[in-house]
This record gives sequence, C-alpha cells and structure tokens, in this order.
Amino acid sequence: MRLDAGERYGMIVAIKFLHIAALCLWCAGLIGLPLVLARHQANDDQSEYARLRVMTHRAYTGIVTPAAVIAIVMGTALVFLRGLFVPWMFAKLVGVGVLVLLHAWIGHVTLIAGERQGNYDPPRGWPAMTVTIATSATVAILLLVLSKPILSDQLAPEWLMRPQDQPLPVDEVPI
Ligand code: HEM
Repeated sequence: MRLDAGERYGMIVAIKFLHIAALCLWCAGLIGLPLVLARHQANDDQSEYARLRVMTHRAYTGIVTPAAVIAIVMGTALVFLRGLFVPWMFAKLVGVGVLVLLHAWIGHVTLIAGERQGNYDPPRGWPAMTVTIATSATVAILLLVLSKPILSDQLAPEWLMRPQDQPLPVDEVPI
C-alpha cells in the first residue's frame, strides 16, 4: 500500500501526537512515583501502607509502563517515517536509555516495597536522586529534540565506528 504525501503527513502527525501524549505520562510517572513512594513512613498503619502499595503498583503497571511502551514504539516509527538517522537523535536515545534504566529501578523498588515480607527501607535519598536524574534526562531530551542541533558524527568513540569482524549469524544481510 502506497501513501500519498497528504496521507503520510497525516500519519506522522497522528503518531507524533500519540508519542507526545505517552511520553508526558511516562515522564510524569518517573518523577511522581518516587515522590509517592517517599511518603511511606516506617510507622504507617497497615491500611495506609496498603493504600500506597496498591496505588503505586497499579500506576506503575497500568499507566506508566504502557505509556513508556507506546512512547518508544511511536518514537521508533517516527525515526523511520522521518528518516532521522542523525547524531542529535542518537544523543537523544542515550537520554531515553537513562529513562529506561530509571523505569526499571522504580519498578524494582515498587515491587520489593509491596511484595517483600518484613520491613523494607528504600535506600536513603533514592527519591531525590531518582527525581533529579529523571528531570535532567527529560530536559536534556527536550532540548535536543526541540533545537535539533547539528552535532558532529564523531561523538561516538572511535572503536564504535569501525567494523568489529563479528558478522551476523546469517549468510547475508537481509535487504
Ligand atoms: C525510544 C524513544 C524515542 C524515540 C525513538 C523518539 C523519536 C522521535 C522522533 C523520530 C521524533 C520526530 C522528530 C521530528 O519530527 O523532527 C520525535 C519527536 C519528539 N520527541 Fe521523541 N523519541 C523517543 C522518546 C522521547 C522522549 C522520552 C521524549 C521526552 C522526554 C521525547 C520528546 C519528543 C518531542 C517533544 C518530540 C516533538 C519534537 C518536534 O516535533 O519538533 N521523545 N521523537
């Protein structure tokens, strides 16, 4: 099926809309969840603790994780639709990698805070650190994507730019 220019443009606008809507939820979750988890005090009563546990668990599995998947899938589609294989995009993906690591870390803390038997004290200072890194990575990504700076294609270390003599385990590269 071939799309004419108007249809292709409409598709890019729709995908970009979904991308931005999903990443708003994702980034808000990465900043909000540590703040909610930080409200847990060792002397909370059982019902308060259960409320916090159910809320963070449902938000993580029902909203923040699906939003992350949608943001990444739509972003990947945009890379191919817009042919954006350029240095600022790869720099942006490093920032996205930081958000993905934080996402996994927040999921880990949410899980052990809710499922582990006995007392659990999250590492001291983790909410402040997580929120700071999430905010910095989000702002860096926004600066890159909105200014689209012309970066040198020599940003990557030299060893990443030359063949490693480790061919794919297939006879030929699919076209
Ligand atoms: C794997 C993850 C991601 C990929 C592959 C990706 C890729 C893309 C692509 C290709 C575009 C279109 C750019 C253009 O049309 O010029 C775009 C737009 C955008 N992305 Fe992402 N993105 C990802 C994650 C994120 C994240 C985490 C954020 C924010 C924190 C973000 C913020 C934006 C914004 C604000 C735009 C609109 C920019 C514009 O239209 O000028 N993206 N993204």
